[in-house]
Amino acid sequence: MLNRKFPLTRLRRLRSNSFIRDIVDENKITTDDLIQPIFVKDSDGIEEIDKMPNVFRYGLDVLIKEVREICELGIKSIAIFPVIDSSKRDAAGSEAFNENNLACSAIKLIKEHYPDLIIISDVALDPYTNHGHDGVLIDGYVDNDSTVSALVKQALCLANAGADIIAPSDMMDGRIKFIREALEESNFKNTIILSYAAKYSSSFYGPFREAVKSSSKLGNSSKSSYQMSSANSDEAIHEVAMDINEGADMVMVKPGMPYLDIISKVKEVFQIPTFAYQVSGEYSMLKHAIENGLLDNKVMLESILCFKRAGADAILTYAAKEISKELNK
Ligand code: PBG
Repeated sequence: MLNRKFPLTRLRRLRSNSFIRDIVDENKITTDDLIQPIFVKDSDGIEEIDKMPNVFRYGLDVLIKEVREICELGIKSIAIFPVIDSSKRDAAGSEAFNENNLACSAIKLIKEHYPDLIIISDVALDPYTNHGHDGVLIDGYVDNDSTVSALVKQALCLANAGADIIAPSDMMDGRIKFIREALEESNFKNTIILSYAAKYSSSFYGPFREAVKSSSKLGNSSKSSYQMSSANSDEAIHEVAMDINEGADMVMVKPGMPYLDIISKVKEVFQIPTFAYQVSGEYSMLKHAIENGLLDNKVMLESILCFKRAGADAILTYAAKEISKELNK
């Protein structure tokens, strides 16, 4: 006999087949949500990055072919990271504000071929300094205010080259205000600022630092005097509030998967476009596990969906191309 006291609510009804599951899904990933980071190098050809399976550095001679593939998959935005020769790095990171540097050349080249593709460009001195820090060192300490002056010059060069989105990833205080004012004064009124507002001092950046060849320069030195402590979340709210007040259009939380609580909090408190970065260490961890048969490759898409569920509006991931191929099937 049927027990009439059995719960009338059966949550499994809406899970019983794939069509009904698709209809009631609260979150979906499309190629609109994905941003592909690209490493650009100042010599010709392609080089695989040791610790990041299936991620490469591209010379300007092969860059457009790669960008074409990205565009054809339906991805609408990329983030450019220059890897420059040691000979061009100095203590002040002055190559950062050379108008014809590698980042600017890459942006101009891409814009000639794909004017609609949204280009995000990092603002920080680490690709250009011979000590690997994001700013200017004075007595071994990254000096906030002189770094901000350098970042303003760097941001103007990138905007002038055609970057759609300027993304300060340096964590200096006050840099959004000064960059925003400089952009307004120089008639870059529609240049978007995506602030890496809640950027943590994280060991998950390891493979990236090797990819841009800054880890050997940084040595044992840490970025903890400017990037946030993993212990904190109230502080993330202060950082985001400050950057929004100073003129940021969008904010980023970084790293991603171990910091989903921060994404969720930021989105809930500010309701501003909030991006998340699945950083190099997270990507490499998953990728190595997949390559070694420990995990199914579906974990990549699952991880991205979890970012979305947590509140991210878009996700920077080295797997953007690969996930897009999967989504387009
Ligand atoms: C540089 C920068 C870093 C990343 C993006 N921009 C490294 C760092 O702060 O040391 C990390 C990205 C990744 O790990 O994928 N300011």
